[in-house]
Formats: sequence, structure tokens, C-alpha cells
Amino acid sequence: MVMSDMESAPAAPARIAGVDEKILAERAREAASTRRDVLFDVSRLTVSYADVPALKGVSLEIYKNFVTAFIGPSGCGKSTFIRCFNRMNDLIPSANVDGTILYHGIDLYGPEVDSVEVRKRIGMVFQKPNPFPKSIYDNVAFGPRVLGWKKDLDARVERALRHAALWDEVKNRLKASAYSLSGGQQQRLCIARCLAVEPDVLLMDEPASALDPISTTAIEDLMHELKREYTIVIVTHNMQQAARVADMTAFFSVEVDEEQDRRTGVLVEYDATPTIFTNPGDKRTEDYVTGRFG
Ligand SMILES: Nc1ncnc2c1ncn2[C@@H]1O[C@H](COP(=O)(O)OP(=O)(O)OP(=O)(O)O)[C@@H](O)[C@H]1O
Ligand SMILES: [Mg+2]
Repeated sequence: MVMSDMESAPAAPARIAGVDEKILAERAREAASTRRDVLFDVSRLTVSYADVPALKGVSLEIYKNFVTAFIGPSGCGKSTFIRCFNRMNDLIPSANVDGTILYHGIDLYGPEVDSVEVRKRIGMVFQKPNPFPKSIYDNVAFGPRVLGWKKDLDARVERALRHAALWDEVKNRLKASAYSLSGGQQQRLCIARCLAVEPDVLLMDEPASALDPISTTAIEDLMHELKREYTIVIVTHNMQQAARVADMTAFFSVEVDEEQDRRTGVLVEYDATPTIFTNPGDKRTEDYVTGRFG
């Protein structure tokens, strides 16, 4: 039968160097067996700084318990976009967000929504680990203490550190300064600090770009573990990493208006990761993932 022939046809070969076809096939299998429950519904989102749009007209859905990657050349608005998901752009006075993001069906930017509560539910990990100048323990206990969660604090701290795959490395030195940890350990500590307040979503803006390959692998393995319980959105410049960890990938690019001397980020294509890397629908995506651009 024609249909079954089509279904059993081998996937198109991965066109990008270093991305293992087996990894992409595994991503495809996982994605096919996971239900797509919409967690964030983004509609016609435009973000401007001082009235100049940096990112224009983005619409997409982020699915629950998926890892979603944002890729694209420098300046295309990836950080701007990921910051919209926990209202971090509120903290930049010149930033203005237009359009809507529904989170569990609720308008994230609605007047009744408390941005502090949003940042508790939707945690963020930055490119450079930013532990507080406190002990390892106090870093993780910080959020729960602010929220007045004093009961079973030790157990909560241990759970978050275990979840972030750091417990075994720090269990005998919890009172030591967070700065005594390596960069990769500090990044996992920051992840533990987010997890301690029991978020729903983890946003990560290039969380492994400053780390060595071993720490990077640890963070990637962690993402695989964590997506059972959390929804993860990650910005990465590393396409192999996107292929290894992400179920869905969004490719952004920059539109240049020479006359007005403006560069505006746009969403070019959003699809299952294997499709973006092996069979993209847009020439700009293909040029980027094959390394001909950016
Ligand atoms: N706080 C800010 N104030 C003014 N302009 C900003 C601000 N943050 C970002 N921009 C501008 O918005 C555009 C998108 O920047 P953004 O940092 O979101 O890009 P990016 O895709 O994350 O780039 P990179 O890959 O280099 O991190 C750029 O033109 C940048 O100059
Ligand atoms: Mg960025």
C-alpha cells in the first residue's frame, strides 16, 4: 500500500554536520508519543525598545512537558522573546510588549496578574550563572524563605539539589559559599534555586554556553529528566544541543530595512525538531541549519 510505504520510508538524512540521525529519530519518536497540551499560546507578539520593534508578530504555541528551543542569529530577538514568558521585560523601562501570551488560558499580561507570582511559577536561568553571595544551602533556601515556606526546609533544599543533579557533589559542603563551586555546578545550583519554589516552567537563555562539555552534558541530561515534570524553553546557539534536547524548535531571523536602518526579529519557522533540521519548509531555515548563514 502506498500509505504504509510512505510511513516506513526512512527519514531524510540529517543535513547538518554533527547531528546524529539516531538522535533526531529518537526526538521524533518521543514527540509522536507525547500529547500536545498547549501551555503558552502566543499571538501576534511584538516587543519594542523605545518604540523600535526588536521582534515582530510572533505567534506560536508552547506545549506542556516539551523542551522547546529558540535558535537563530545574534540579535534576532531570542532573549527578548524568552523574557516575555515570565514578564522579565517589565523590568526594562524602555520595553513594550504588544499582542498576547495566554498561560493556562489566562492572559499573562492581564491587569489582574501579579508579575512576582508569574516569576515564581515560571523560573529563569541565565547564560552566566548568577548565584547569590551566600552559602549553597542559602541560595536554594532563598525562594522558599521569601515565600514563608519554613516547614521541612532541609528536605526541600535536598530535593531541589537532587533534582538539579547536584546533591552528591555538594551534600557535605552545604554551608560553603556558592562561589566555591565550578561554573557548571553554579549553573546547576541556579537551576536548583528555581526548582525549590516548585515552578511550572523553566526558561533557560543559553544555559550551557559558558560551560565545558562535561557540564554541558550534565545540563542536557538534566533537561531530559526535568521535562517529565516541567515545561522547558531554551535559547541556544548550539544546533547540536537543540537537536539533542528539544522536541520543538523555533527558528528566528532578522529582517533588515536598509532605508530606516532597522533590524527586526521575526519567527521564520516553528516545527518538530527533526523537521527543522532535516526538512525545513523555508530556505532561510535551511541556510541557517546547514551553516550557510549566521
Ligand atoms: N534592554 C534593551 N534595550 C534596548 N534594546 C535592546 C535591549 N535588549 C535587546 N535589545 C535589542 O533587541 C534586539 C534583539 O536582542 P536580543 O538580545 O533579544 O537578541 P538575541 O537573539 O538574544 O541575540 P544573542 O544571540 O546575541 O543573544 C537587538 O537589536 C538588541 O539590541
Ligand atoms: Mg540573547
